[in-house]
Amino acid sequence: MTVWGLFIFVVVLGVYVEYTQNTNTDSCSTLTVSHDSLLVEYGEPVELTCSIPSKPSSQYKLGWESQINPVQIENETSVVWRSPGLTEWEVNGRELFCFLTVNVAPNQDQCKKRVHLSLYKRPDSMKISSESSVWSEGHMMKLKCEIKNVGPLQSLTVQWTRVDQNKNRTVTEISYGSFSSSGEERKSGNVTATLNVSASRDEDGVQYQCAALLKLEQLQQPQVGTSEPLNITVHYRPTITQPSNGTVSVTTGNRLVLSCSAHGNPSPQYSWSSPGNMNFINSSILIISSVQSEDQGQYNCTAYNDAGSDSVTVMVNVVVDYKLIIIAICAVLGVVLLVTGFSFWFYKRYRRTHSATISSTT
Ligand SMILES: *[C@@H]1O[C@H](CO)[C@@H](O)[C@H](O)[C@H]1NC(C)=O
Ligand SMILES: *[C@@H]1O[C@H](CO)[C@@H](O)[C@H](O)[C@H]1NC(C)=O
Repeated sequence: MTVWGLFIFVVVLGVYVEYTQNTNTDSCSTLTVSHDSLLVEYGEPVELTCSIPSKPSSQYKLGWESQINPVQIENETSVVWRSPGLTEWEVNGRELFCFLTVNVAPNQDQCKKRVHLSLYKRPDSMKISSESSVWSEGHMMKLKCEIKNVGPLQSLTVQWTRVDQNKNRTVTEISYGSFSSSGEERKSGNVTATLNVSASRDEDGVQYQCAALLKLEQLQQPQVGTSEPLNITVHYRPTITQPSNGTVSVTTGNRLVLSCSAHGNPSPQYSWSSPGNMNFINSSILIISSVQSEDQGQYNCTAYNDAGSDSVTVMVNVVVDYKLIIIAICAVLGVVLLVTGFSFWFYKRYRRTHSATISSTT
């Protein structure tokens, strides 16, 4: 009997709980809000409406439960939460509810609808700078990005973009915690982010830019600000690209042209030194219009600028033209033969005339 009684009691209780829950969900499903989620830019006006389709038969209250501007009304079917210009960072992460309370004696029936409201702020200004306007090769340099009054800080990512002369882009992102900031993480504040760059010659002519990104769920375009682009100049010592160390052979009488070129910033200046006479030519090109054997030897090209110098040595080997010598010898021999032949003929002829004279006199 007691078992049966307990069973009936449990069933009745179950039905009762089911019933009250049903009435709860019924009145709650009629509660509608204009936005489930809303992203507001700092200082912009906000209006959120909460409504019910009809007045409940019992006494009720409709309102907005909030840290800022809470409202509550009776006998109306809609209630508006408004701010003429939202600047309260407290809305981020705090609860904002629309509620409906219906008095069903003896208990009170309440339901709530949450609205996810978030506030963000675009930076007042952004500035990129370098600790020095001209970089020297081999040093570590700091780029600084200063962002004024952006928030919420905890959602901020600073993005660095590097664009080289081939239009190749490299992007580096630094998130909250890895840059220095003043202000609370849920609010807006000032940010200084730095990027360390090794001043190699590859950085010469490269452009850097920084951007502020707010990684907020409802923000489609996270980029809220960018700096001006910053052009980098790196001074580096010259490197000779032409000629290379080596030997060049030239035949006597020919023209010798030695041309020197180098990469460097600022643009390098050149000098050539030639053997023996220690002549220095302040030009990238050395020309000898007719090479003689005394021109043989070491030629040095030096390319230099503020940052340093580079030099190469070219050995010039002068080849004597034997063809010319052979032709000359042949010519001389020919002349000698011709002269000898002529003298012999002349001598014989002279002897003949003289012997005739001698014989006629005798
Ligand atoms: C662009 O940069 C990447 C990474 O530094 C490099 O691997 C790639 O070769 C570059 N492309 C060009 C066209 O310079
Ligand atoms: C940010 O900088 C501005 C001016 O530079 C200053 O007035 C403001 O107080 C700073 N804000 C914070 C949170 O430090």
